[in-house]
Amino acid sequence: MTDPPVPSTHPPKQLFMVADASRARKLAAPELPAGHQLRGIRPGDRSAWIELLAASGFDEWTVEKFDAYTAEPERLAGSRAVECDGRLVAAAFASQRSRDPLAGALDYVVCHPEHQGRRLGLIVCAAAIEHLADQGYATISLQTDDWRLAAIKTYFNLGFEPVMTRIDMPDRWLKVIQQLHLT
Ligand SMILES: CC(C)(COP(=O)(O)OP(=O)(O)OC[C@H]1O[C@@H](n2cnc3c(N)ncnc32)[C@H](O)[C@@H]1OP(=O)(O)O)[C@@H](O)C(=O)NCCC(=O)NCCS
Repeated sequence: MTDPPVPSTHPPKQLFMVADASRARKLAAPELPAGHQLRGIRPGDRSAWIELLAASGFDEWTVEKFDAYTAEPERLAGSRAVECDGRLVAAAFASQRSRDPLAGALDYVVCHPEHQGRRLGLIVCAAAIEHLADQGYATISLQTDDWRLAAIKTYFNLGFEPVMTRIDMPDRWLKVIQQLHLT
């Protein structure tokens, strides 16, 4: 008789990617479409940013969470958004990774569903990367999920590379790469 399978105590870990900051900074981002403006966080942005996060699938944000998150000085200085007709339509947070003073991080990269398809996600990431590289960060990392194909393609386009942080990662990345028709 064989033993029953041991239930996994490890839920799926998020995929992890890293880019060399100065190399990523040199990659040209597409031009902003007409009528769009790229900018940092402004006082009074919190409701619009929270609405954009919710429209993009991150509905757990509250005013308290947003205020605490953006109180971190690098995140306040480095995060970027795209505005169109007075509405925030794309955004990304940029910050310092907590345990490494030379490592920057991107997270919560979002583009409103009605504005997707014009690489606005790449544009906000590229602007945040520019800030982090100029601050002297050597690397920039991010976490994502296997099914976020538009995001992962964006990150590949920006020079991010997968890092295998768990034994199941190579197979998971292979599936992602096949779905993106990359070699
Ligand atoms: C990630 C996100 C910001 C990208 O939005 P965007 O900038 O409008 O992205 P685009 O639609 O222009 O697509 C970007 C790239 O992904 C590709 N892509 C888009 N959807 C895809 C799909 N379903 N499968 C494969 N590739 C896809 C596009 O062809 C494009 O590639 P290219 O620039 O090399 O031609 C947006 O999809 C989003 O907000 N998603 C929900 C939130 C999320 O998942 N955030 C990431 C958290 S890690």
